[in-house]
Amino acid sequence: AVQACDVWLTESSIRQLLPPRPRFSHKGTYGRALILAGSREMTGAPVLAASAGLHTGCGLLTLAVPESVLPTVTARISEPVFWAIPEENGHFASDSVGRLRERLQSFDVVAIGPGIGTWPGGVRWLAGVINAINVPLILDADALNLLADDLSILAQKRSDIILTPHPGEMGRLCGCSTTEIEKNRPHYARMLAQRYGVYVVLKGAYTLLASPSGQLVVNPTGSAALAKGGSGDVLTGMIAGFIAQMRNTEAGMRLAVYLHGRAGEICGMRSMYASMASDVVQAIGPAIRTVSF
Ligand code: APR
Ligand code: MG
Repeated sequence: AVQACDVWLTESSIRQLLPPRPRFSHKGTYGRALILAGSREMTGAPVLAASAGLHTGCGLLTLAVPESVLPTVTARISEPVFWAIPEENGHFASDSVGRLRERLQSFDVVAIGPGIGTWPGGVRWLAGVINAINVPLILDADALNLLADDLSILAQKRSDIILTPHPGEMGRLCGCSTTEIEKNRPHYARMLAQRYGVYVVLKGAYTLLASPSGQLVVNPTGSAALAKGGSGDVLTGMIAGFIAQMRNTEAGMRLAVYLHGRAGEICGMRSMYASMASDVVQAIGPAIRTVSF
């Protein structure tokens, strides 16, 4: 199935994409990312996604969480700007978007999903966010499960949308089984991307990147050291971090996917078993170093 694809990411193409880091630069040079994540039950995902975003080199990262989750999150990471969002039952309040609208305009990229859970009214909340944002928007994890309830909300999009499903989430989005997705990954990735005019990152070994045009790219990097809860949250943070600095959806996605896999390989050299998602975050710097001189 992998041969059916158009392009493979290569180390030299990734090296060429890597954003320069000029001496006379400042945080404004490297973009502002917003990550909406977390819920009462999942407080680790926002920390992983935010620290991964910061490790890619983006200039300013804002982490928005339901207000009661804030103390737990701030105890574990200090570098982001924090934003406490009104909540209901430990999730983002379904009517919170209206009040957030103005501040949502001040970012170069927005990511939604790690640890947000699902809740009644969640689809309405997500539709409001999609409609409010006019910069690249990454939807991951439970944002994809909410979206699977009503894909028609994608019609409200005003910008590039990047979906990052694992095969289970992809099955829910396509209305078929995980096994069916695994049998024909290129077909489903391309179909979803073209039908809704979105970018699709279909995760798993040999992650596929599908563009709205139907172009497919395969990522060769990765390791079974990544087969552990939290690795996907790290990828979401990295995509946001690279798009923020590059202001280019396709380039940012490619860099993030390739270097996330490389970070997994580096972790795998220490242990294929013991690596945790936080170790993958620590390996982002060394992964970047393997492609830069
Ligand atoms: N080879 C290469 N890459 C791998 C491998 C492998 N064998 N196994 C996993 N990965 C990579 C995937 O490509 C992906 O980038 O690790 C990442 C795993 O992402 P997710 O499946 O989203 O995992 P997770 O971080 O646990 O997601 C957190 O959100 O998606 C939901 O159900 C998920 O509750 C879970 C939460
Ligand atoms: Mg995930």
